[in-house]
Amino acid sequence: MKRTIMAGLAIVVVAGIGAALYINGSTRADDIADNQLQASDSTPPDPAQVRQGAYIAVQGDCAACHTAPGGKAFAGGYGLQTPFGVINSTNITPDRQTGIGNWTERDFFRAVRHGKRKDGQLLYPAMPYNAYVQMSDSDLHDLWAYMRSLAPVSQAPAANTLGFPYDIRLAMLGWNLLFFKNAAYVPVPEQSAQWNRGRYLVDGAGHCAACHTPKNALGGDTGAYLQGAALLGGHAPEITNDAHLGLGNWSAEQVRQYLKTGSNDTAVAAGAMGEAVEHSTQYLNDTDLADIALYLKSLPGSGTQAPAGLAANAPVMQRGARVYETNCMACHNVRGEGIGGMVPAFADNSGMRTPGGANLISAVLKGGRAAATDSNITAAGMPSFAWKLNDTDIAAVLTYVRNSWGNAAPAVAPAQVAKARTALKADTPISGL
Ligand code: HEC
Ligand code: HEC
Ligand code: HEC
Repeated sequence: MKRTIMAGLAIVVVAGIGAALYINGSTRADDIADNQLQASDSTPPDPAQVRQGAYIAVQGDCAACHTAPGGKAFAGGYGLQTPFGVINSTNITPDRQTGIGNWTERDFFRAVRHGKRKDGQLLYPAMPYNAYVQMSDSDLHDLWAYMRSLAPVSQAPAANTLGFPYDIRLAMLGWNLLFFKNAAYVPVPEQSAQWNRGRYLVDGAGHCAACHTPKNALGGDTGAYLQGAALLGGHAPEITNDAHLGLGNWSAEQVRQYLKTGSNDTAVAAGAMGEAVEHSTQYLNDTDLADIALYLKSLPGSGTQAPAGLAANAPVMQRGARVYETNCMACHNVRGEGIGGMVPAFADNSGMRTPGGANLISAVLKGGRAAATDSNITAAGMPSFAWKLNDTDIAAVLTYVRNSWGNAAPAVAPAQVAKARTALKADTPISGL
């Protein structure tokens, strides 16, 4: 608690200092946008722009966050769990009362690229404006045309449940000052057009860093760009070209295939990435995906050294092997090679070596579902083993797969599994099994 308050005070103090700077300096770039026509006005948007804007909305994955489960598209009400409380997304359909019907294009630009609402209040960075700020004027014009073309939905946004001081929107001034880089995308002239396009998509609309770059205590990006980050109940792995933890042993084509279909011959996207693939990356065209792959493969990354690994005859490895043969081998296969496009391989899969293994523990305790995409509609399921395997067995089997078939990674401790079991509200094993 003490730390929360201290951190909060720090934000508010910095807010004071930064206020003038931020208010005066920041939003000029948005003057490019129309300041008269409102979203709900009857002048129809240009159909070609609407079509292109729909593609921009897919790149930005706007619908995923702005649609409640089972709710109407873009009508908001999706609750984002953050370490600071639940933040609900808003209704961004052109409804005058509950959506953005009386917003102008300039209001829209300011919200998406600068995190400012029409009433001047600041948005929480759960809305990834710190990435979208890099989106170009023309992409935003098209996106706006698309937003205007949507049918208005009347649905008032739900209240947020943030604790003090995070419930004070003004505190975001401090956050912006510390972590918001108010700059458009600047191409790197030494690099190819493809590389620049890839980086523009990753850092801008794709907001990949929102999950893949580790955060500091205030939720700002650290300098360990795309080097893997803890998510609530999981982990987004490193996606640089690092050989041990990243995409070093993936070809660019394997990256493209993963983003397009949700899987390749090694990995299968599930959880938060499964959703990103289902709603966003599967719909990107092959050129854009190839450019993203090219860019990610150009990043040197963390340079993590592989640990020594455990010997196959260590007792924990032998126990893990037994649990594996009985429970996992039918799907993950005899030598951990998985089933291409359905069940992830464990063999030489950097995703298996993530530092804490939180994502792996969560997969075994809660099970999961692979992404279902137009090109791979099966969406195979990973069953939950919480009811069947105790903490020692789960720790042993994960330690085993993390140290077999070309992998080497720290052991998973039974205490980690016990903690996750409580945190994830997973079942306890049925005794006598
Ligand atoms: C990771 C989740 C997430 C994604 C992706 C996302 N948003 Fe948001 N957005 C939010 C949240 C949460 C809020 C409300 C924040 C707040 O209340 O401070 C918000 C607020 C907004 C607002 C302000 C609305 C208002 O009434 O104040 C607009 C406009 C908006 N988003 C548009 C977009 C567009 C366009 C995209 C895609 C390019 C997008 N959002 C993608 C989470 C997201
Ligand atoms: C909402 C959070 C989130 C966002 C946004 C996100 N990712 Fe991910 N990503 C994850 C998680 C979690 C995993 C691990 C998935 C799993 O284990 O099945 C992952 C896995 C991956 C992998 C596979 C890595 C491996 O070693 O298995 C790649 C490649 C990837 N993401 C690329 C991207 C790109 C490119 C973007 C931006 C266009 C992106 N991600 C945006 C959460 C996210
Ligand atoms: C019925 C088939 C099946 C069985 C049995 C099975 N799995 Fe899985 N497993 C899958 C599928 C499909 C996925 C991909 C979907 C997902 O990640 O949720 C998966 C994913 C995983 C992941 C997440 C991989 C990642 O990229 O993050 C881990 C870890 C895992 N399984 C471990 C195990 C262990 C350990 C066992 C045995 C105790 C086991 N599985 C048994 C089908 C199975």
